[in-house]
Amino acid sequence: MMKKMKKKQRMIWMKQNFENSDIICPGYYYYDSKLAITPEELQDLYRFTLWGRSRSLEQIGKMLEGTSMCFSVRYNGKLVAFCRIITDFVFRGSLWDVLVHPDHQGKGLGSSLLRYALNHPAIKSVPLIVTYTSELIDFMCKLGFETRDGLLIMQRRPIEYS
Ligand SMILES: CC(C)(COP(=O)(O)OP(=O)(O)OC[C@H]1O[C@@H](n2cnc3c(N)ncnc32)[C@H](O)[C@@H]1OP(=O)(O)O)[C@@H](O)C(=O)NCCC(=O)NCCS
Repeated sequence: MMKKMKKKQRMIWMKQNFENSDIICPGYYYYDSKLAITPEELQDLYRFTLWGRSRSLEQIGKMLEGTSMCFSVRYNGKLVAFCRIITDFVFRGSLWDVLVHPDHQGKGLGSSLLRYALNHPAIKSVPLIVTYTSELIDFMCKLGFETRDGLLIMQRRPIEYS
């Protein structure tokens, strides 16, 4: 039953009482400005994903402009992790494009980036943050998100890998 549920794409809800803890990985520099990222280097990072690899520079540039907050991490000057939040900064937010370069995965960087983003002063008080995932339910639950029975995503049109 649980396996069946995990295969479904589920809307995941952020708990309001998320606790801040050991946010930063040593040697990594965290940025909360979209100006810290160029479309070119983000495109290089997207190449490692099925869902992001077809994104054009023009689309990525427009996306960065239109996204409320973009969070990134650099190691030796290189962009190695990214995520973004679309929000009104008061009532609602959604988390997208959580991504760590394969050479840096499995070291706690993805978790620390999300803690950094979700505890950011501009985001922390937003009472409802949702995200969308098919495979990372356990990962997201460890970061304070929870699934809600009976709530499934409704898409106006199917997401093609973009
Ligand atoms: C998913 C991702 C962001 C995780 O980043 P990471 O830095 O490797 O994650 P962490 O090292 O912080 O791992 C934290 C925990 O999540 C688990 N985890 C990491 N990636 C996972 C995955 N793909 N599926 C399930 N669990 C995963 C880890 O095993 C770890 O568990 P533990 O605390 O019990 O050891 C990274 O693997 C990635 O960029 N994947 C490709 C892009 C992607 O699919 N993004 C999500 C779509 S928006």
